[in-house]
Amino acid sequence: MLPPLRLVLCGSVDDGKSTLIGRLLHECRAVFEDQFQAVEQASRRYGTQGDDADLALLMDGLQAEREQGITIDVAYRRFETPRRQFFVADAPGHEQYTRNMATGASTAGLAVVLVDADKGVIPQTARHSRIAGMLGIRHVVLAVNKMDRVGWDQARFDAIAAAYRAVARETGITKTQAIPISALHGDNVTNRDGQTAWYSGPTLLDHLETVEIAPPAEGQPFRMPVQYVNRPNSDFRGYCGRIAAGAVAPGDRVRVFPSGAETEVERIVVWQGERQRAQRGDSITLVLKEERDVSRGDVIAAADDPVKVADQFQARLLWMGDAPLVVGRPYLLKLHTRETGVTVTRIKHREDVMDGRARPAATLGLNDIGSVNLATDRPLPFTPYDENRTLGGFVLLDRRTGTTVGAGMIRFPLMRAANLRRQDFEVTREIRARAKGQRARCLWLTGLSGSGKSTIANLLEKRLTAEGRHTYVLDGDNVRHGLNRDLGFTEADRVENIRRVAEVARLMVDAGLIVIVAFISPFRADRDHARRRFEPADFREIFVDAPLATCEARDPKGLYARARRGEVKNFTGIDSPYEPPDAPDLRLDAGAESPERCVERVLDSLE
Ligand code: ADX
Repeated sequence: MLPPLRLVLCGSVDDGKSTLIGRLLHECRAVFEDQFQAVEQASRRYGTQGDDADLALLMDGLQAEREQGITIDVAYRRFETPRRQFFVADAPGHEQYTRNMATGASTAGLAVVLVDADKGVIPQTARHSRIAGMLGIRHVVLAVNKMDRVGWDQARFDAIAAAYRAVARETGITKTQAIPISALHGDNVTNRDGQTAWYSGPTLLDHLETVEIAPPAEGQPFRMPVQYVNRPNSDFRGYCGRIAAGAVAPGDRVRVFPSGAETEVERIVVWQGERQRAQRGDSITLVLKEERDVSRGDVIAAADDPVKVADQFQARLLWMGDAPLVVGRPYLLKLHTRETGVTVTRIKHREDVMDGRARPAATLGLNDIGSVNLATDRPLPFTPYDENRTLGGFVLLDRRTGTTVGAGMIRFPLMRAANLRRQDFEVTREIRARAKGQRARCLWLTGLSGSGKSTIANLLEKRLTAEGRHTYVLDGDNVRHGLNRDLGFTEADRVENIRRVAEVARLMVDAGLIVIVAFISPFRADRDHARRRFEPADFREIFVDAPLATCEARDPKGLYARARRGEVKNFTGIDSPYEPPDAPDLRLDAGAESPERCVERVLDSLE
């Protein structure tokens, strides 16, 4: 008997998807199971599938969502025939739910792409195929449905099959079986029908029962991402995880990444006892000979064939966020067991959904696929996705909501960063600050235009210098005349504006200065990112809070009036949002209190 087949059904309700599923289940008298759990366990048990039957990639990311009560609409159904067992992931067909389709595809070995014989290949057909190919699916069944409605017209079927082959060509899908069916009547689903004398191929079920999905390559070097460090007492320290590639035995030389430290495997522990060998798919605990500093997210790998480590990558990215991708904005990246901050530093191009051609793009919208450069906050041990799905497939999450906004595949590391080394200088930031007789910090003022940030910054700096402090003010308007003169007020430009000023402020704190930053900095994610660039005690977020009406009445530069007339676009508070801080270190009531009073409050807070 062939190993179980995991498949994803792509198409929309109108294409007859539910009818087809219903038909298959009915004919096979299937058991209906709509639980994630069942599939998860099954994938553990049947870890020999063509795809690595690893729910880790998207599931981990989506897990976070499910915990927050956001429903992922993927139903998994199990059914079996005397010849084979099947797991079907059924994802709703609406355009906006590519996320569900991708979730299903990430665990599947084959995709059934359903098209309506009347409509033929539509953009959604192409999109689903592209996503399937991107996630590593090589086998597709093109089920041309409702053939009864076009009179079982062979020419129509051939044309659709040809159009589909043209679309599939660039997607990574290598095997396509086109089958004319009528889900409604069951023709060519499980039984052959006389009306398709011209069709000599298999029925859908025949094909599914017999198609062979190549198992993942054997003989890959050993790799195991560390899920957690098990240290019940001081005598035992083991590293738990699921083997992502290769095999391991006591005595093997291994290295731990990103550190690269080398040691030897002493024992392999499983809950039933000890093992002399473990391989891909096994969940084990490794005991190493020497104590090494290993933590969750590290990868233990064969010493003579190690994984790579990098913090800049080129990747293919499927965007699944409702809001478009913003270059430079911090997101959270999950790769195998590791989680880290990340920014997309550049969108190289967007892939045209129909022909796969590279199109220029400044952003990626919902369901777009593109090629991007990424920079992570920490170095990641990885392999390219082509080599290993687990070690090269990642998801991107929104930092605040935990929602999955993207799924990506690492193509290769960008070596730029790897060729750079940090230099250490003997005069440290502490020495520099001490020489100035102060504690260096960044006082970050955020608030609407006209809220009083610059006025407060000015008075504050006067007070501080009068007390003999060494200071500098970074002011939005001023910095935009020089360093940031290339930036405007789109979301992406503001993200970059804040990123640069945070870096400059950081250098100044490093130099021992008290830096006052006065930027609107309207987006929480970017202020959070700025904060993370500092030691916790060195950064103060100060919310200069004045009602919009007050700022607009003051209108010191006449910009609100112009924005209301539509002469200035993307103006904060008018047609561009301001996200107030959730928990600022200090909130100044700049609408009611005088600037002098506000400055007193800042100084008090610094004591
Ligand atoms: S930020 O949003 O990117 O942080 P920043 O503080 O650098 O903005 O610059 C804001 C200043 O630019 C405002 O005080 C105002 O003088 C000017 N400005 C010009 N156009 C705009 C706009 N569309 N939105 C906000 N400020 C603008």
